[in-house]
Amino acid sequence: MAQHLDDERIREVRIDALAFGGDYNPDQWSEDVWLEDVRLMQEAGVTMVSLPIFSWPQLEPEPGVYDWSWLDRILDLLHDAGIRIDLATATATPPSWLLRAHPEMAPWDSDGHRLEFGSRQTYCPSSPIWRENVARMTRAIAERYGEHPCLAMWHISNEYGDHVSRCWCPESARHFRRWLQDRYGDLDGLNEAWGVNVWGQRYTSWEHIETPKKAPGPINPTKLLDFERFSSDAMLELFQVEIDVLREVTPDIAVTTNFMSMFRDLDYWRFAEREDVVTDDAYPDPMDPTSHVGAALNYGLMRALKGGRPWLLLESSASATSWRDVNVPKAPGKIRVESLQAVAHGSDAVMFFQWRQAKYGQEKFHSSMLGHRGERSRSFQETKALGLELKKLEPVRGSRVRSRVGLVVDWDSWWGSSAVESLPSQQLQWAQQARAWHRALYALGHPVDAVRVGGEASGTPFDRYDVIVAPNLYILEEEPAAALRAFVARGGTLVVGPFSGVVDSTEKVHDGGAPGPLRDLLGVEVDEQWPIADGALEHLSYGEDALAVPHWGEWIEADPDVEIRGAYATGELAGRPAVTRRAHAAGSAWYVSAMLRPEGLAAVFRDVLRTAGLPARDDDSVQAEAVTRSDGTTDYTFLLNHAADPVTFHLPMSGRDLITGSEVAGELTLGAYGVAVVASPRSEPIPFLTLAHTHRPTQATPSKELA
Ligand code: GLA
Repeated sequence: MAQHLDDERIREVRIDALAFGGDYNPDQWSEDVWLEDVRLMQEAGVTMVSLPIFSWPQLEPEPGVYDWSWLDRILDLLHDAGIRIDLATATATPPSWLLRAHPEMAPWDSDGHRLEFGSRQTYCPSSPIWRENVARMTRAIAERYGEHPCLAMWHISNEYGDHVSRCWCPESARHFRRWLQDRYGDLDGLNEAWGVNVWGQRYTSWEHIETPKKAPGPINPTKLLDFERFSSDAMLELFQVEIDVLREVTPDIAVTTNFMSMFRDLDYWRFAEREDVVTDDAYPDPMDPTSHVGAALNYGLMRALKGGRPWLLLESSASATSWRDVNVPKAPGKIRVESLQAVAHGSDAVMFFQWRQAKYGQEKFHSSMLGHRGERSRSFQETKALGLELKKLEPVRGSRVRSRVGLVVDWDSWWGSSAVESLPSQQLQWAQQARAWHRALYALGHPVDAVRVGGEASGTPFDRYDVIVAPNLYILEEEPAAALRAFVARGGTLVVGPFSGVVDSTEKVHDGGAPGPLRDLLGVEVDEQWPIADGALEHLSYGEDALAVPHWGEWIEADPDVEIRGAYATGELAGRPAVTRRAHAAGSAWYVSAMLRPEGLAAVFRDVLRTAGLPARDDDSVQAEAVTRSDGTTDYTFLLNHAADPVTFHLPMSGRDLITGSEVAGELTLGAYGVAVVASPRSEPIPFLTLAHTHRPTQATPSKELA
């Protein structure tokens, strides 16, 4: 596979405003509607739209016969209106004629069934025919529009893996074998890596290796893990096919593919390395009153994927989605606070799926900027107000989020703890652990950046952080462990969660057991993992507190110089260490061997932050957050109230609210879903906002009983 032409260069998106707009599907509408679209886009302050994402059949109705006329016309109209284009390569889904001519390019599920045409993404990522056609279509579009003055960036495919992220077809099996040959060299290497002497799994020919379809019992775990890695890489190769064409035809235009927040199936660290700008599609569930907490972690990943550079929120919903079982609309004001939360966390865009609500098809009940009632629709009125408000936030464009806490996001450990079937407990899962740990840090007032486990060597230097947490680092090799050791040696505080440092990258348990390469740093050894029966609850004592331990504990032995911060208080583990801290010259390394509930995690992380010299909020509410972006001279602190009850922040600085234009100092109260963005001279340390006091619920929020 050809490598991209110049790895180091990052191309800027060609837009000189915060991007505001959405997916646009003019080919679902007559041309007189386009004129209204453009007029209303201008009225709403739209600066960018994404198209033609799913329009391949409209652009190439028959093999080799192109019809660019309609796209020419709409691009010119948009350009005349001053709107920039996130121009899709139209390769998100194949036209029916292509699939009919090459049925072998359809994906197969794990039961060996071929998936049929009739939805979208009906392709196998490994299919040579698909790749060839994708390259051809991309080249055709790039050659036609590469110099169009409205082009802001290339939008490659769409949400890779949304419907099909793994394929079990014969072509995928062939590709899987090639991938394994590259990784292990020869069959002896593969047999050794997969530990095939267990259950008689030795392979004597590459041809005997299939994609892991249903088998009589648990499948070899290293095979499963490798299939996850391979599938992510197969999609990455497909991405690279388009990147190579675009780099050749339009070397100066930025490329992206839109991510799906914290998406299990694709290793976004590796995808982000290939593109110029990170873009994300975010759909916090309006049914979940704390969905903004998860969103904050997703955004902490998005900004981290390219070393803290601004990213773009490319899709979100103006109100309800249509793909959940129950699609709850967003309360008035929620569109605004959710959108500005993304900006707070480093996005230089607020964009929606989609501009005009569809009249037919699978997504006609999905909200849009312009609802079925047109400009009278609530979503239009609210998004238009937001678009105009964004103009006041122009100064934040390009600035970066300031954070002192990093959280290790590692796809290998994620896959290891979810694809593999034979684990001590299915209750301990990477994603759940990461979300629970992040929630505690969020509640204590800290925005959290994702970090890559290898640190500097893998592109996310650790030295900008005071605290790094690794909620569940199941797979760990010596080299990344050394980066964590170096972080602690430089004075950092590292917190490692349960079931970490257990296996190496071929899924072999480290000599001496967990925490493997972290043994000396943490000063502990795990004698046995100790899952707790479903429904049972143990406790550990932490200072004055008794913290509940559901699902998971560990029998650990600690070295004499290790401080025992918390000890198990009940069950077979009673009296044994549960939470430990080992001081190193300037830093410290903590081990939290148990799964804890939110109150328990809050207690432990309060202690961690205190010993690391970082502030923490007194309350543990997740209703409101403060996040600071900075351009080096000015801090822009976003205050966000995610609920209908008012909230009052205590400000350590004074400044000007970019939204109201007023000077603010002391205390600032935000009403329902309120937002303020305070510009103040850059300060050290990062402004840390506490909640001055809480308010009684207003009538706008029905109590739980009433709801
Ligand atoms: C995804 C897709 C869009 C649309 C939205 C609906 O984000 O990229 O095409 O289907 O979901 O929420």
